[in-house]
Amino acid sequence: DWTMAEFRATKIAEIREQVGTGRVICGLSGGVDSAVAAVLIHEAIGEQLTCVFVDHGLMRAGEADQVVSLFRGAYNIPLIHVDVSTLFLSGLAGITDPEEKRKFIGKTFIDVFEDEARKIGGAEFLAQGTLYPDVIESVSFTGGPSVTIKSHHNVGGLPERMDMKLVEPLRELFKDEVRELGRELGLPDIFVGRHPFPGPGLAIRIPGEVTRERCDILRKADAIYLEEIRSAGLYDAIWQAFAVLLPVRTVGVMGDGRTYDYVLALRAVTSTDGMTAQAFEFPGGFLPRVSTRIVNEVKGVNRVTYDYTSKPPGTIEWE
Ligand code: XMP
Repeated sequence: DWTMAEFRATKIAEIREQVGTGRVICGLSGGVDSAVAAVLIHEAIGEQLTCVFVDHGLMRAGEADQVVSLFRGAYNIPLIHVDVSTLFLSGLAGITDPEEKRKFIGKTFIDVFEDEARKIGGAEFLAQGTLYPDVIESVSFTGGPSVTIKSHHNVGGLPERMDMKLVEPLRELFKDEVRELGRELGLPDIFVGRHPFPGPGLAIRIPGEVTRERCDILRKADAIYLEEIRSAGLYDAIWQAFAVLLPVRTVGVMGDGRTYDYVLALRAVTSTDGMTAQAFEFPGGFLPRVSTRIVNEVKGVNRVTYDYTSKPPGTIEWE
């Protein structure tokens, strides 16, 4: 039985012990986990830490700005912002297999971290906000046979040849505990309460080939969905909500013209740790309103569906 204050103190001691006088690079993904890990490590080793925000072009609308301003402004933690969207998007061209996407993204993240490490004169350690469920789900699945369901990029997706050693202070924690630790460290509630966002970003929300155009369409639709969820006061009742752009086109009619555009799926789930999940039941009228807005406002989408699958047998993300 321990409190978050004790956990914080223990981890700080452990990080100092592990790292010594070495240098640490921490990749910020835009999510809560990597932000909490970075703030904790910064408290432990201060200037030995360099944070790198890898903008792979697969972020949600506004995500990058929020993280950069939080770190530079509120915490005054030095942050290198690298725009490598072309590297990621050109590498993803032609890849349609989900695991291949994840492996490519995991490897490319490491390439970028190693590059940045070189630029600051070397770093022995790479820090990540890996949680307990990430560890479990990358090796096996609760109650099932020992098979990989998906390689979370911050665990199974890492290449074997990596030179840096890992610092993962959140490895024993579940999401609710990370949020508690974040509050303990003084992160603003609005940040701590954010829905999880996967490291591979929008790439795993675009089944089939990922292109810049598809990312742009998805970003617009996703922003409308989230805006409606926030203004209906439902954000905090949902574990995670997002849109998925399907590589399928269907026929529609708009005005007096025929359309032949993509299908979008909306997903919203409740969960306590991400290991099981149930589809969220929206109040009547909500989904039709979102659907109408998306089809009217997002060029390229003419049909919207809602995903009612629980986990298991589905997973939260589509890939
Ligand atoms: P699934 O889709 O496996 O997702 O049911 C469970 C939770 O994990 C998130 N997720 C990831 N997070 N890197 C991450 O940091 C990843 O590669 C990754 N894949 C899935 C997912 O968004 C959900 O919250």
